[in-house]
Amino acid sequence: MTANVLLTGGAGYIGSHTAAWLLARGWGVVVVDNFSNSSPLALDRMAGIVPSGRLRWHEADIRDTERLAEILRSEDVQSVVHFAGLKAVGESVTNPLDYYSVNVTGSVSLLTAMAIAQTRRLVFSSSCTVYGAPDTLPLTEDAPRKPATNPYGRTKQMVEDLIDDVAESDPRWRAISLRYFNPVGAHPSGRIGEDPSGVPDNLMPYVMQVAIGRRPFVAVYGDDYPTPDGTGIRDYIHVMDLASAHEAALLALDDQAGHSALNIGAGKGYSVLEVIAAASRATGTSIPYKVVDRRPGDVAATWADARRAEDRLGWRAERDLDAMAADHWRWQAANPYGYGTSDDTAQSPPD
Ligand code: NAD
Ligand code: WQD
Repeated sequence: MTANVLLTGGAGYIGSHTAAWLLARGWGVVVVDNFSNSSPLALDRMAGIVPSGRLRWHEADIRDTERLAEILRSEDVQSVVHFAGLKAVGESVTNPLDYYSVNVTGSVSLLTAMAIAQTRRLVFSSSCTVYGAPDTLPLTEDAPRKPATNPYGRTKQMVEDLIDDVAESDPRWRAISLRYFNPVGAHPSGRIGEDPSGVPDNLMPYVMQVAIGRRPFVAVYGDDYPTPDGTGIRDYIHVMDLASAHEAALLALDDQAGHSALNIGAGKGYSVLEVIAAASRATGTSIPYKVVDRRPGDVAATWADARRAEDRLGWRAERDLDAMAADHWRWQAANPYGYGTSDDTAQSPPD
């Protein structure tokens, strides 16, 4: 029987898909989430799509160190995947204290609880945002980590540094930070998926809300970038490929000491217009868009060199952009308001 793994933030977008993946592969999954940006429905729905007999969950805040240590011990947890955190770049600028509290203080609390419970195996949700604006593409893990341009990015850098220092202090720690590129898509069942609160910041959920009729058109943020069609290029990765990367990382902890960081992307970039075209194919409609000004802080292009993850984890992304759009659409079409029942966010995008 495989081990028990605790997923902080396991009811969220990436956490719930990883929970489904791990349960389907026979792992015991213990979720800790305060549901500040998710719904317990995501966990209830596991029962319909995967064997869920080994799923347990606790409503708790990761900043409650004693509670975490108690859960780690009582649930006989061997490893932790740390998804819990706040992730909206713009909100992190207006509300930095919440971001430092949840992302940084929360991580200190989790690592403290893990030390108390003698559970020193960790996979951390990092981000390509730690690199800042790339000088050369594709981005390798050895690319310089530039000063972050917003508090969210700074918290990811700080937590990677925190894990470095903790792993350096005690050789019993084993940790891998996965630097995700742009996660999209949904479980192929259409039962779980991304449920952004408010108006989506990210491209794919916005495009899908246009396709379902919740918003009139996609605002394309600039078509004068130095890219083939002038729109921004990103490395989109299917959330189920991302989920499988977590299992590969958990298994790889057996063979590595200390802390390492790996890019988790498809290794290929797509433009905004290519994403809209793929979504139009998936939905069978022509998705309307208007080109507007660039979004401040955006880079022209970024994509991963994902070869180190392949070498170290024996993992690589398998699902292409059409699969990402088709699976995202299956979820959106079956759940127009995500886990909710009505739209309290309707508003027009900028002209
Ligand atoms: P999400 O918001 O869907 O999931 C985060 C989960 O953490 C939610 O269920 C939320 O309720 C929970 N949470 C928040 N604060 C908590 C607290 N104090 N205690 C307990 N639970 C708490 O986000 P996601 O897209 O699934 O992202 C998961 C992780 O991956 C985050 O750390 C995020 O920064 C990182 N990441 C996400 C992306 C992306 O584009 N989605 C890209 C790179 C990295
Ligand atoms: C993708 C492309 C936009 C919306 C963000 C965070 C990053 C990471 C992933 C967590 C860009 C364009 C978007 C829209 C558009 N998260 N776009 N119209 O900016 O690469 O990364 O999410 O770690 O930290 O910054 O993703 O999906 O917002 O944008 O034209 O309505 O789509 O300009 O070129 P991004 P995104």
